Amino acid sequence: MSDWIWEYEGYDPVEERLRESLCTLGNGYFATRGAIPECTADDVHYPGTYAAGCYNRLTSQIAGRRVENEDMVNLPNWLPLRFRTAFGDWFSPDTHRVLDHRQRLNLREGTLERTVRYEDTDGRRLAVRQLRLVHMADPHLALLRTEFTPEGWSGEIEVESGLDGTVTNSGVERYRALASRHLTHVHTGTSPGGPGRAAARVAARDTVWMRCRTSTSDIRIGLAARTVADAPAETGNVKELRRIARVFRFPVTDGHTVTVDKTVALHTSHDPAISDPLHAAVDRVRRAPDVEALLASHRTAWQQLWRAAEPDVPGGAGTVLRLHLYHVLQTLSPHSAELDVGVPARGLHGEAYRGHVFWDELFVLPYLNLHFPEVSRALLTYRHRRLERACFAAEDAGHRGAMYPWQSGSDGREETQWLHLNPRSGRWLPDHSRLEHHVGSAVAYNVWRYCEATGDAEFLHTKGAEMMIQIARFWAAFASYDETLGRYRIRGVVGPDEYHEAYPGAAGPGLVDNAYTNVTAAWVLARALDVARTLPVTRRRDLFERIGLDDAELEVWEDVAHKLHVPFHSGVISQFEGYGDLAELDWEAYRERYGDIRRLDRILEAEDDTVNRYQASKQADVLMLGYLFPPTELRDLFRQLGYELDDGTWHRTVDHYLARTSHGSTLSSLVHGWVLARARRTRAWDFVQESLIGDVADLQDGTTGEGIHLGAMAGTLDLVQRGLTGLEARDGRLWFDPVPLPELSEYGFSIRYRGHWGVRLRLRPGRLHITVPESDEPPITVAVADRTVSVAPGESRELTLPE
Ligand code: BGC
Repeated sequence: MSDWIWEYEGYDPVEERLRESLCTLGNGYFATRGAIPECTADDVHYPGTYAAGCYNRLTSQIAGRRVENEDMVNLPNWLPLRFRTAFGDWFSPDTHRVLDHRQRLNLREGTLERTVRYEDTDGRRLAVRQLRLVHMADPHLALLRTEFTPEGWSGEIEVESGLDGTVTNSGVERYRALASRHLTHVHTGTSPGGPGRAAARVAARDTVWMRCRTSTSDIRIGLAARTVADAPAETGNVKELRRIARVFRFPVTDGHTVTVDKTVALHTSHDPAISDPLHAAVDRVRRAPDVEALLASHRTAWQQLWRAAEPDVPGGAGTVLRLHLYHVLQTLSPHSAELDVGVPARGLHGEAYRGHVFWDELFVLPYLNLHFPEVSRALLTYRHRRLERACFAAEDAGHRGAMYPWQSGSDGREETQWLHLNPRSGRWLPDHSRLEHHVGSAVAYNVWRYCEATGDAEFLHTKGAEMMIQIARFWAAFASYDETLGRYRIRGVVGPDEYHEAYPGAAGPGLVDNAYTNVTAAWVLARALDVARTLPVTRRRDLFERIGLDDAELEVWEDVAHKLHVPFHSGVISQFEGYGDLAELDWEAYRERYGDIRRLDRILEAEDDTVNRYQASKQADVLMLGYLFPPTELRDLFRQLGYELDDGTWHRTVDHYLARTSHGSTLSSLVHGWVLARARRTRAWDFVQESLIGDVADLQDGTTGEGIHLGAMAGTLDLVQRGLTGLEARDGRLWFDPVPLPELSEYGFSIRYRGHWGVRLRLRPGRLHITVPESDEPPITVAVADRTVSVAPGESRELTLPE
């Protein structure tokens, strides 16, 4: 590995799925897993191509019930390119001798290079080099260049380059029992020719196409692939059910390289400014420039993306952070700003969680706000477009306001599955995570932080206000007043921890007063009140009229915002009411018996026990509060609720949950690393390291092969950007309150802040260096401890940090 290269040496079928995920190429519009082009889906390989926001619903019969699931659809595979020496079998690393094999992801340039040397049964050796990209400048294009060099023989090779529409959604073992065929009406053909430049007409002969549609969402998909070889070849086409390919047979000479270039275009009926996806794809591929030009414009687009962030962290951590940013940008790029998409928890990299959108944007947007604010705005707009649906959900449940779904897909309906499989016990179990109503607070939090960071008052006063107000309204309606306690309580929820869905022995699911839910709801209510009261007068009147809001309702919010109950036990914040009464788990015994106990819930269920009985959490729940709110804001928030949160209570709380969390989500180590670093605790680095290697070392039990963990990836970038620096964009200033993490003490990055592009920040022990590039914007006010300085465009300042 070097700073910009992520590399795999050798072919290892066991690791293949993981490598496919981590070698995925994408551009925010679509992404393709780093699968080997000569292989089709089987137990080892899983080629997958996903377009952002392309979902389809299917009904399956599971455990005697009919269940409907919505999936991000695996689109026809554009990668297929197989080859053989004349009269031999098609080469495959599973059937042929592989002399060497290497995959190199070039992060700077956004390309995947693969070199492999095969030997056929007659001992003929063939060196193959492939370069692939999913274009970052033209989001509808992809490219696969393959170079063949015979070693020690001359003869003939045959190459087949095609499109495969036989694909299904079968990338996740646990979902195998569910319906998986989303594509119908698959038609193929060769380019219909038609008007165009002479060169385009020639190219058209090399083009095969495929069109199909999703079975229930009726999204039409068009793909075209143009393959050309730089050697005289006999050519033809192979057409099979749901497959089409172009075939080449050409002579090869020992030591001489023949190059085959496959350029692919993809359109769906979601795209603006097209007539139909197939014609758009055929036209685009015909007009696509040659490979050198495509490579050049792709590299430039990537350079520009890197310039917007310039993460500069030394050592191995720096390389992993670059890889994380690379995958974040392949899922959410400036192209996403043009789409109606949310933040898919597992990227566009695989089928885990079906491409659904959870609360994970909480870990993604704060990072994007300071680099690609237009992307954040688009992601919030995805939520705004589904505000009406969230209001329907609240109404159906008998409440007012907006109840955002725990899992969201196409139209913002609740997409959480009703049943999930415990692979350990083989049992299908009810899934109550739809009770994680805290997801709404994550939406409101992101609206607020986005507006703070960007100063986008227009968004705050329009879509932002509408979402914040309806989410606050839901909390005020959902909370009920408890006369005995003299406080409001929130019942029937599940917190971020997810292990606890019900009280032991209870007839139904749901917990009372999940501290995270209540405290964040109080924050949302307070911020929504701020927004409601500071809206421009006319806007306020219009909005209040439209949604039937009045001052009396605001007074109720005020009351709830100050009187939500937060449970405590033994001097620590309780995760929920009654948490302190749960049994203690013998952690050591379980670790000894099972080794990896991250999915303790599954282990206990398979033992006919339930994690609901224990003080055991999957991931940070109460401690999420220390992640979302800087210490002063958190103290003020507790004070707003009438509680004193002193340092002692917080430290005890951190220790309590630290000892009782199994880290069954990649988000857990991230949050613990962040919280411990902010609390200047020694174990911080262990957790930071774990969050850095979560995906690359596939720590969550092989799940990275089913898609990367986008929240954790973006979260680690934000850990450097905001966690370590204490950076807050608040009240029109940039505040810093750095914490030392000895293992990561010098680092730098660039941000975009309120019209200033490329503000460069560099931190080293005791020093903060800031450079503001030339522009006509007003100076930036920087606040460190009790000092503020103004840094004008074109200026650099070095500030001394307090001890
Ligand atoms: C975590 C959730 C997360 C989801 C999607 C789950 O394992 O517990 O917090 O939103 O994965 O990433």
